[in-house]
Amino acid sequence: MRTQVAIIGSGPSGLLLGRLLTLAGIDNVLVDRVGRDYILGRVRAGVLEQGMVEMMREAQAAESLDAHGLPHDGFDIALNGALHHIDLAGLTGGRRVTIYGQTEVTRDLMDKREADGATTIYDAAHVSPRDFGRAHPWISYEKDGATHRIDADFIVGCDGFHGASRKAVPPKSLQTFERVYPFGWLGLLADVPPARHELVYGKHARGFSLCSMRSTTRSRYYLQVPLTDHVENWSDAAFWDELRRRLPAEVGDAIVTGPSFEKSIAPLRSFVAEPMRFGRLFLAGDAAHIVPPTGAKGLNLAASDIRYLFDGFREHYAEKSDASLAAYSERALSRIWKAERFSWWMTTMLHTFAEDDAFGRRIHDAELAYTLSSTAARTALAENYVGLPY
Ligand code: APR
Ligand code: PHB
Repeated sequence: MRTQVAIIGSGPSGLLLGRLLTLAGIDNVLVDRVGRDYILGRVRAGVLEQGMVEMMREAQAAESLDAHGLPHDGFDIALNGALHHIDLAGLTGGRRVTIYGQTEVTRDLMDKREADGATTIYDAAHVSPRDFGRAHPWISYEKDGATHRIDADFIVGCDGFHGASRKAVPPKSLQTFERVYPFGWLGLLADVPPARHELVYGKHARGFSLCSMRSTTRSRYYLQVPLTDHVENWSDAAFWDELRRRLPAEVGDAIVTGPSFEKSIAPLRSFVAEPMRFGRLFLAGDAAHIVPPTGAKGLNLAASDIRYLFDGFREHYAEKSDASLAAYSERALSRIWKAERFSWWMTTMLHTFAEDDAFGRRIHDAELAYTLSSTAARTALAENYVGLPY
C-alpha cells in the first residue's frame, strides 16, 4: 500500500490530523494497535479550549460538539470552606472553554473518517516506523498472520505515551524531561447531575478534589490518593464521603450521589520529548508529551500540535514549501512547555505533598492565596486555562 501521510495511532491526534488531511485532498492511512470499540471504551478528559473547538469546526466534525458541548465561562476554586470564582470570560476578553468528552471527540472524528472512506487499519500488531531518516519511509505491521507494508512520504506518530514511534527513535537523538508526582487521581463517573454548573477544583489538607462533568446528567469526580492506594479500597460510599469532606458544605450538600460505572486510579506525570521531528517521522500528542490532568491541557496540546503539523503538510503539498514543516518541532514545543509549566503549577499549588515540610506547605498556601487575591494573578491563570494562542 502507498499513501502520502501514514499515521500511527487512532486517538484524537491521529484522527484530527487524518480528517484535516482528507479535507485538504491529502491521502492518509491510519494504523492502530487496537480496535474502534476498545478506543471508545477509554475514559478520558473533557475540557476543550476554544482553539480546539475551532479546529473541530474546521474539520467539519463539530455538529455534536456544537449541539451538546457545554460552554463554561468560569470555574471555582474551593479553599478553607469557601468558593473563589475564576471568571474566565471576564478575565480574558470573552474566551471560554467547552465541556465535551474526549470519547465523544474521538467518536465524531471516527464517524467522519468512515464516511470519508479513508483507510483505517485496526488491530495491527507490531506497528513499526522504518527508514524515516531516509527519503522513502515506510511502516510495517502484522495482521491476520501476515506482515504488511505501507510506503509513505511522511510518518506521523500519534500513538500515545506507550506507542512505538518515539521508541523507534535512536536514544541519542532524543532528549526527555520527566516529573512523576507522588500521588494519583482516583476518578469516578456516574450518571448523576453535577453538583454545580461549573467545575470546582478543591484544595484541602486531606488532598485535592475536583468536581467535573461530561454533560448535565453525567458527573466526573476526582480525589487525590496516595500512589500506593488501590481502587478496590474505595467503595462508592467511601468515595462520596471523602469527596464531601474535602469540599465546602455548599458544594458537598449539592452533590447527587449514585452508582459509579467507572472508577480507576491514574498516576500524574509531566513528560516532554525533544525534538518532535526525526527526518520524515513526526511525533504529535501524547507520543511526545504528557501533562498532569490538573490544567486540562492534554487533549488541547494534541490539538495544537496537529494545528502546526497540518499547516506544514498543507504547505508542503499545496505550496511546495517546507518552511512550516521545518519549524514544526520548535513551534509546537514552545507552546507545549508553557502548558507543561501551567499544569505543573496548578498541580503543585492545589495538591497536598506528603514530603512537604512546614515551609513548603506555607509557600503552596501563599501561592494559592496570592492567586485568588490578585487580579493580575487570576488573569494569568485564566489566560492559560482557556488556552494560549496558537
Ligand atoms: N501501534 C499502533 N497504535 C498504537 C500503538 C502502537 N504501538 N500504541 C498505541 N497506539 C494507539 C492507541 O491504541 C491509541 O488509539 O495510539 C492511540 C493513541 O491515542 P491517545 O493515547 O489518545 O493519544 P493522542 O491521540 O495523542 O491524544 C492525546 O489523549 O491520553 C490523552 O491526555 C491525553 O487527552 C490527551 C489525548
Ligand atoms: C475531567 O472532566 O475529566 C477533567 C476536567 C478538568 C481537569 C481534569 C479532568 O482539569
